[in-house]
Amino acid sequence: MASNRTFTMIKPDAVAANNIGPILSMITEAGFKVVAMKYTKLSHEQAGNFYDVHRDRPFFGELVEFMSRGPIVAAILEKDNAIEDFRKLIGATNPAQAEEGTIRKRFATSIGENAVHGSDSDDNAKIEGDFFFSQLERF
Ligand code: CMP
Repeated sequence: MASNRTFTMIKPDAVAANNIGPILSMITEAGFKVVAMKYTKLSHEQAGNFYDVHRDRPFFGELVEFMSRGPIVAAILEKDNAIEDFRKLIGATNPAQAEEGTIRKRFATSIGENAVHGSDSDDNAKIEGDFFFSQLERF
């Protein structure tokens, strides 16, 4: 069965560039409903824990520095086929390979500083949503 929830972050690069508004517009215009949302900042340790699966990758240090550099917007989103449709909306990890009309094509500047995160599976959407939100913060 296709999933109906995903998790996203608007990353520090996009927040610093004042792009929260246009990114949220693209998300809601694509039919995603906001279930939970938070403006917050990750510590170095929290960013490392969030991206624990990438701990052995060569870019891990750079990723943690970047993700703890400034505030982010975290959200749980709902829509039929949420995981796949949201990954289509954000585009490829590397903005150079992202299709026209995607969020990363419009707002990302590099493979590291790529404006938004989107969960890659139902299991990870649950783990990532639970990282930021209690049950009382979901509507
Ligand atoms: P995201 O979809 O949030 O999941 C893992 C993140 O690691 C990815 O987006 C990028 O921000 C980052 N990342 C992936 N590959 C690289 C890379 N080759 N160099 C630097 N950062 C990367």
